[in-house]
Amino acid sequence: MEEISNCSTKVCVTGGSGYIGSWLVKKLLEKGYVVHSTLRNLDEKLKVGLLKSLPNAETRLVLFQADIYNPTEFEAAIEGCHYVFHVATPMQHNTQSSKYKDTCEAAIAGVKSIADCCIRSETVKRLIYTASVVSASPLKEDGVGYKSAMDESCWTPLNLSYTFSNEFTMAYTISKTLAEQEALSYNEIENGKLEVVSLACGQVGGDTLLSYVPSSVAVVISLLTGNLSCYNGLRFLQELLGSIPLVHIDDVCEAHIFCMEIKQQSLRGRFLCAAVDPTIQEMAKYYQQNYPQLLKISEELVGGPDRGCNCDNGKLREMGFEYKYDMKKILNDSVDSGNRLEALGTYFTVGPCSFEKVSY
Ligand SMILES: NC(=O)c1ccc[n+]([C@@H]2O[C@H](COP(=O)([O-])OP(=O)(O)OC[C@H]3O[C@@H](n4cnc5c(N)ncnc54)[C@H](OP(=O)(O)O)[C@@H]3O)[C@@H](O)[C@H]2O)c1
Repeated sequence: MEEISNCSTKVCVTGGSGYIGSWLVKKLLEKGYVVHSTLRNLDEKLKVGLLKSLPNAETRLVLFQADIYNPTEFEAAIEGCHYVFHVATPMQHNTQSSKYKDTCEAAIAGVKSIADCCIRSETVKRLIYTASVVSASPLKEDGVGYKSAMDESCWTPLNLSYTFSNEFTMAYTISKTLAEQEALSYNEIENGKLEVVSLACGQVGGDTLLSYVPSSVAVVISLLTGNLSCYNGLRFLQELLGSIPLVHIDDVCEAHIFCMEIKQQSLRGRFLCAAVDPTIQEMAKYYQQNYPQLLKISEELVGGPDRGCNCDNGKLREMGFEYKYDMKKILNDSVDSGNRLEALGTYFTVGPCSFEKVSY
C-alpha cells in the first residue's frame, strides 16, 4: 500500500489558470499538497492574482512560466514532483511559431516533452492527462450509426466529416485524440517506468473561479443564452458522441485527485469521466421545466434523438470513484455561474428553479 503524506507530496499542474486547472489547484492546496503550476505568461496579473489568492497559496504554491510551443520550459516545474497533471492544451494555433504547423503537432510535442521530463526527473510516479470524450466517439468506422455504448475501447475515427463541426472543433478533436494516444503510449516505454492515466472528461459544467464564463460552461448553457456558436458546439458533441456526456467541475477535479491518491501500487490507462449522458432534447426539457423564461433556442433547432448513446462510466466507478453531481446539479450550477457572471443578462436566480426578470 502506498501512503501519501500531502504536505510532503509535490504535484505539478500545467495550465493552472484555466477553468479546470484553477479548480484543481484550489482543491490540491486545500488538501495540503505543494503545487507547482504553470502559466504561459507570469505577467498576466489577473491569472497570477487568482492563483496567489487561493487559500494556502502563499506557503504551498509555486508558479512557473511554460508554453507548449516551447515545451522544454516545463522541466523546471516538473523537477522534484511526485505527480504531474497535464491539463493545459493549445486551443488556438500560435501562428508566430514556426516550430509546429498546428495545435495538434504542438499538443503532441507538449505531451512528449512533459512525459520525457517526468521520466528524467526520477521522482514522478504518475502522469495524469486531462483528455476529452471527443477522443472516444462511439461512431462506427464508416460513420453510420453508433456502437452499443461509449466506453474506453472507443477511439474517434479521424477521417469523418460532421454537419456541426467547424475548423476549431475538428482541430480540437484531432489534437485531443492524438495527444491522448501519445500520452498513453508512455505506458509501454522504458518498461512502463512512468505510469500514465488519461481521464477522458465529458463536457464540464458548474461553478468557476474565473471572472468570465468558461467556454465549456457557455456550451452547457447555450440553450439559454442563445449563443449559436456555442449551441453548435453542443450539436457537434451529440453528432460525434450520440449524447452529451456531462460532468461537474468538482467531480472532474476529484477524479483527477482520486487517480493520484488511489491506494494501489500502480494505475495506468484510460478512464472515461462523465456522470451523465443526456441528449440535447433531455437538456432542453430540463431547462424548459426549470428555467422556462430563459430558454432561447427555438424548438425546431432542438433536433436529435430523445434518448442517445450511453456513456459507460463504469471503469472509474469500479475503481471506487463516486460522482457527487447529477444532471440537475450540473445544469443548475452552470446556470448560476452564467447568472453570476451576467452571461444570462437580464435575470437572476431567486431559488433553485425560479427566476425573476430584473432588467432588459
Ligand atoms: N472544459 C471541458 O469541458 C473539458 C472537457 C474535456 C477535457 N478538457 C480538457 O481540459 C483541459 C483544460 O480545459 P479548460 O476547459 O480548463 O480550458 P481553459 O480554461 O481554456 O484552459 C486552457 C489552459 O490551457 C493553457 N494553454 C493554452 N495554450 C497553451 C500553450 N500554448 N502552452 C501552455 N498552456 C496553454 C491555458 O494557459 P494560460 O492561462 O496560461 O493561457 C489554460 O490554462 C484541456 O486539456 C481540455 O482539452 C476540458
